[in-house]
Amino acid sequence: MNSLNIAKKDLDWANLGFIYMKTDSRFHATWEDGKWSEGENITDEMMVIHEGSPSLHYGQQCFEGMKAQTAEDGRVLLFRPELNAERMANTAKRLLMPEVPEALFLKGVEEAVRNNYAWIPPYGSGASLYIRPLLIGIGENLGLRPATKYIFRVFVSPVGPYYKGGGLSLISLAVTNYDRAAPLGTGKFKTGANYAGGLISTKSAQELGANEALYLDSAERKYLDEAGSANILLAMKDGSFVTPESDAILPSVTRRSIMVLAKDDLGMKTEERPVELMKELSNIEEMAACGTAAVISPVGKIWVYDKWHAFHKDGEEVGPVMLKLYQTLLDIQSGVREDPYGWTREVRID
Ligand code: PLP
Ligand code: COI
Repeated sequence: MNSLNIAKKDLDWANLGFIYMKTDSRFHATWEDGKWSEGENITDEMMVIHEGSPSLHYGQQCFEGMKAQTAEDGRVLLFRPELNAERMANTAKRLLMPEVPEALFLKGVEEAVRNNYAWIPPYGSGASLYIRPLLIGIGENLGLRPATKYIFRVFVSPVGPYYKGGGLSLISLAVTNYDRAAPLGTGKFKTGANYAGGLISTKSAQELGANEALYLDSAERKYLDEAGSANILLAMKDGSFVTPESDAILPSVTRRSIMVLAKDDLGMKTEERPVELMKELSNIEEMAACGTAAVISPVGKIWVYDKWHAFHKDGEEVGPVMLKLYQTLLDIQSGVREDPYGWTREVRID
């Protein structure tokens, strides 16, 4: 296949939302009798599964979120996909599902991207191709036990910014009264159950005018955990750069990368440590939510104990630290800037 001969779809790339758009092809592999099939590229977006499937009743499923970007020179780049393969394998282990081997995971992701070349947003459009790998337990079952068959599916959709407002516009978060995950529960794994339990927190946050919920630790309700769809970053007034340490949050690929950039590029002292919110609130200069969908979304204000607390410049302006990190991360992800870490991986189209 030669990318130059494939016309891009006629979409309003600069104004895409974060919604499902049916693309041409998806990757589909199955596990049965202890082994994975090779996998195939199919056009049908529907799945027919047994009504007794453990993914439907007992939430035995997990997923990943990644993006592909078009670089200035036309290359198509993934960002640290091995870390998503590793995280899905860790989640699968926790949920007694068969691990998707890294080679199959990467093959599925690359084929789904390659076969939807026309849907990959062009360089400079501000949009990207979101990639959703999914692992679900299927087959006839009734009692509480792991499935005997599994589907690994990868589909893609071109997307714009995740939060309303988009790009680098300031968002707000509201501390929720609900817990997302128990200390020894599934918070650090990417399983749908964590998100189903969080829908009510996101809804309540939106009713308050915020974009997303902000979770405190569920043991003491004192320490910052994460947002409903992203990890948290803090630029402190003393010049340090902090991210909350917690066993109950998703190990974000974006966060792990930004911590490296804050240290190497901005020369900041970086710390991953517990953050007691009310004790440290007045020392936080800038806050941001980070993740694949969220990228780096600067947080202007948070709703906490019945009032708003604003950060940098009364929550009206994006602070310089998050601004610089946003630009640096995007430049690496889209191949504008040299990638000294080997984080990007090209998907060959021809
Ligand atoms: N936290 C939650 C709850 C998420 O859903 C996500 C998104 O994947 C993240 C954090 C960020 O993780 P990553 O940077 O790997 O996308
Ligand atoms: C991602 O950022 O990839 C996620 O999976 C978050 C999801 C709520 C869209």
